[in-house]
Amino acid sequence: MLRKKIKSILKKKGKKPIICLTAYSQSVAEILDKQCDIILVGDSVGMVLYGMKTTREVKLDTMILHAQAVKKSVKKSLVVFDMPYKTYSNKQLAYKNAKRVIKQTKCDAIKLEGGKKIINIVRHLTKKGIPVMGHIGLLPQSSNNFKLKGTNDLQKNQIYNDAIALSDSGVFSIVIECVVENLAKLITKSISVPTIGIGASKYCDGQILVTDDLIGLTKFNPKFVKKYSDIRKIIEKSVKKYREDVIKKRFPSSKNVYK
Ligand code: KIV
Repeated sequence: MLRKKIKSILKKKGKKPIICLTAYSQSVAEILDKQCDIILVGDSVGMVLYGMKTTREVKLDTMILHAQAVKKSVKKSLVVFDMPYKTYSNKQLAYKNAKRVIKQTKCDAIKLEGGKKIINIVRHLTKKGIPVMGHIGLLPQSSNNFKLKGTNDLQKNQIYNDAIALSDSGVFSIVIECVVENLAKLITKSISVPTIGIGASKYCDGQILVTDDLIGLTKFNPKFVKKYSDIRKIIEKSVKKYREDVIKKRFPSSKNVYK
């Protein structure tokens, strides 16, 4: 089943766009599952739900709880678990934590941030049968400086080489975050596994966004996010109406009362 799911993601490369979004809860995951190929339980949960300043504060136990909730309602999408900061600093630790994650959450794969520096870890995990998604370009666990990457030749070469190294070490896909369009296009053409872009242009094989950004729940508004709705306004309106109803004794009405 897992092999089949991963194979179908790989098969889409260069043919059909791969649809990915983040989820941290059962209810959101249930909605996304109908539309997505991949659901990422992202460590962005720290900033989005817990008001943390960076993803570095996110703990493995917290991620496991969210992943368990997500997995409860996902029937068809591939669910990827984002390994938090310092949980994969060496191959032994990475394997120990990844094994626990897969066992306790039943997620299908894990995601690690980094390129050449982590290829020994990626090789070790994939050899042990754990599917790994890479993540290059802007790396939130390494820097809290939100800045476009690949803007000079040195950076371009580094990111390109990271992509090649990861692809050669067995990842089944690579997230490319916040890089210039021509670099994302070149990487996508050069590697055999799908690239999943976030702020990395239409030339990637798939796209991912933080769901809370696209529905307008967060106030995070960089150029690469398209807001498909303004959920804050909807919540605000609903809560205001509720408040008025309670004050005017319109709620609860006879419909909401047990007699
Ligand atoms: O944590 C996350 O949500 C992510 C995506 C932005 C790719 O890593």
